[in-house]
Amino acid sequence: MGIQITPSILNADFANLGAEVARIPGADWVHVDVMDNHFVPNLTFGPTMVEALVRASERPIDAHLMITDADRHAAEYVEAGAGSVTFHVEAAAAPVRLAREIRKQGARASMALKPATPIEPYEDLLAELDMVLIMTVEPGFGGQSFLDLCLPKIRTARALMDKHGLETWLQVDGGVSLETIERCAEAGADVFVAGSAVFSADDPDAMVAALRAKAEAVGTQSL
Ligand code: DX5
Ligand code: ZN
Repeated sequence: MGIQITPSILNADFANLGAEVARIPGADWVHVDVMDNHFVPNLTFGPTMVEALVRASERPIDAHLMITDADRHAAEYVEAGAGSVTFHVEAAAAPVRLAREIRKQGARASMALKPATPIEPYEDLLAELDMVLIMTVEPGFGGQSFLDLCLPKIRTARALMDKHGLETWLQVDGGVSLETIERCAEAGADVFVAGSAVFSADDPDAMVAALRAKAEAVGTQSL
């Protein structure tokens, strides 16, 4: 699939979200952070908002569910029209069943790991997933500093996918910027969420292009 850039609207202007997503026509997906004030100490969007964003955006919606009881609520986001739905493994009682349900409903199924959650216990689940999201900050807020301690996990995840011959996408989220994206790409990530880096830029779409160029250059070097 190659490099994909997925801007998060968490740091966009919430009063003008339709206009904000129109500022990033070069993005591959629009990343929507769903937070419930329980799994993380912040409250954002629900399925109705995702449905509105699906209508407003020309790009598909990548819903990142930072909610407890993901088993029960993930389906609402597929029904809302999200093209990809990510649940946190820490919040899923039955991740295999949940991933299968999301796929069966017609969306891409993705599983996220917080910084302290290892990937190795989930090696046998990888074939059930379209994407793995490695958080590179503690989830909950935009604008935090990138955690380099997550880089070995990105490498391990990519190695496990290669070992099993999987083409699972590997997404990173948190503190991704022009400063840090190369480290993530070098470690094996191919889908990059960037919130504050994109929406604090004067020209968000130019920032999407600049991030893409940096990540793609890493791939060229390693050939
Ligand atoms: C954090 C969210 C991220 C956040 C990223 O919990 O999952 O998607 O918006 O924002 P930045 O890129 O500013 O770290
Ligand atoms: Zn996110």
